[in-house]
Amino acid sequence: MNQQSAVVNEAEIRERLDAVGQGHLLRFAAELSGDSRAALVERVGALDIERLPRLIEAYVRNKPSFAPPTDLAPAPYLALDPATPGHSWDLDAARSAGEALLSAGKVAAFTVAGGQGTRLGFDGPKGMHRAGAVTGKPLFACLADWIIAAQDRFDGVIPWCVMTSPINHDQTVAFFEEQRYFGLDPDDVLLFPQGVMPTMDKDTGAVLLASKEAPAVNPDGHGGSLRALWTSGAIENLQRRGVEHISFVQVDNPLARMIDPVFIGLHAAHPDSSGEMSSKMLEKTEPSEKVGLFCEIGGRVSMVEYSDLPEELQAQREGDRLLFNAGNPALHMIGVDFIAKLNQSDEGFALPYHRAEKKTPYIDLESGELIEPSETNSVKLETFVFDALALCERSLILETDRIDEFAPIKNASGSDSLESCARIQTERAARWLEAAGVVVPRTESGDADCTLEISPIAAMTAEEFGELALPDRIDAGASVVFETP
Ligand code: UTP
Repeated sequence: MNQQSAVVNEAEIRERLDAVGQGHLLRFAAELSGDSRAALVERVGALDIERLPRLIEAYVRNKPSFAPPTDLAPAPYLALDPATPGHSWDLDAARSAGEALLSAGKVAAFTVAGGQGTRLGFDGPKGMHRAGAVTGKPLFACLADWIIAAQDRFDGVIPWCVMTSPINHDQTVAFFEEQRYFGLDPDDVLLFPQGVMPTMDKDTGAVLLASKEAPAVNPDGHGGSLRALWTSGAIENLQRRGVEHISFVQVDNPLARMIDPVFIGLHAAHPDSSGEMSSKMLEKTEPSEKVGLFCEIGGRVSMVEYSDLPEELQAQREGDRLLFNAGNPALHMIGVDFIAKLNQSDEGFALPYHRAEKKTPYIDLESGELIEPSETNSVKLETFVFDALALCERSLILETDRIDEFAPIKNASGSDSLESCARIQTERAARWLEAAGVVVPRTESGDADCTLEISPIAAMTAEEFGELALPDRIDAGASVVFETP
């Protein structure tokens, strides 16, 4: 851009900002050199400036509230045990349908890795964080192993889409290159950044300045993936390859079965599924557990946040189970056509925003100094992928097992940490070993007295694992990894 058009552009953007009370975003423009000034103007110009007043009214001045509708009901699901009365299904048919799709190259894996990982406090993209209980392998490598294992077994290419954010994209790409794409063909790995939203002062709605050269922005939530898959060209790439379904997992759960033939088959072929979006569920056993719940509203599956479900409904039981018991582990199958349809619809599609109050460093407008707040000072707006469930005609839910498939690393310590993740990896491996007749040392309280890790390359399921040549016993205190078939 030449000097003159840059000046015109800045003047025009200043006018638009002033009109919505956000003129402070250019407060330090005059102090900046030519390139930095142009970069600031470009970053501010990329915000949806005219929409800010509506967002502030809806999410800063007010907090959206959810009133449970009168027809709120638990969502039906297929039980973990396919023979369960009332929740039964055909395991062999599902598995064959999934395996056929994998062999025909009709399935892609998708990992959302654009989050900021603030609770973990790790300096870098979360996917680079160690995760393997014994090997210490990073999260990205644990997930890549699922693709390597499945490509090997089903003899079809499984492209891997990885969504980053503008904040961690370059570092993520550099890590993939340094790690040689974890053994995958780089042509089959599609890395692309998600969109961002402006981060606003929680009292006034003023967009914060992250530096004198940039407004503060935050990734637009994992729901942003449904748009980013489209705008990045990933969907077009997948369609060219003949891919029909995408397996969605979050980057922080190394036990997520990123490729699960049974779930793929149910999503693609079961009559309860329209092939648009399916989900796995974990049984919620304690009313106080803070987990989103699959419900049915107006005949469609919808996710209801735990804080939105009245306490008496959270505690209501049916027999020995909670009535609203379908917790969300964030494991989905999504149809490629569904994503294309959402993005091409004439009315457009919009997922609702969820607001979160967070601590965001900002530039003080008087002193120009960077302030690290000690209390939450900002509102971040994000969309969530599960809100797309309500846009599906028919959406299937399959129960899964907590130990088999859910070991997220969210926090630096305590629950959902590296430590708890390693414990769950060990417990899963211990169960698989014991099912195969191997003696596993256990403490008096019943915990496995060893550290164990099974790569999906060695076995994707307990049944496969049982066919490997295994030791008779594991020694107390041992660290053992099963990495090869
Ligand atoms: P979380 O909700 O756990 O958020 O994301 P987070 O950003 O990783 O961590 P906190 O809340 O700041 O501590 C769940 C999954 O969704 C992805 C994350 O990378 C993670 O895989 N995600 C989240 C995105 O890809 N983009 C986002 O904007 C938010």
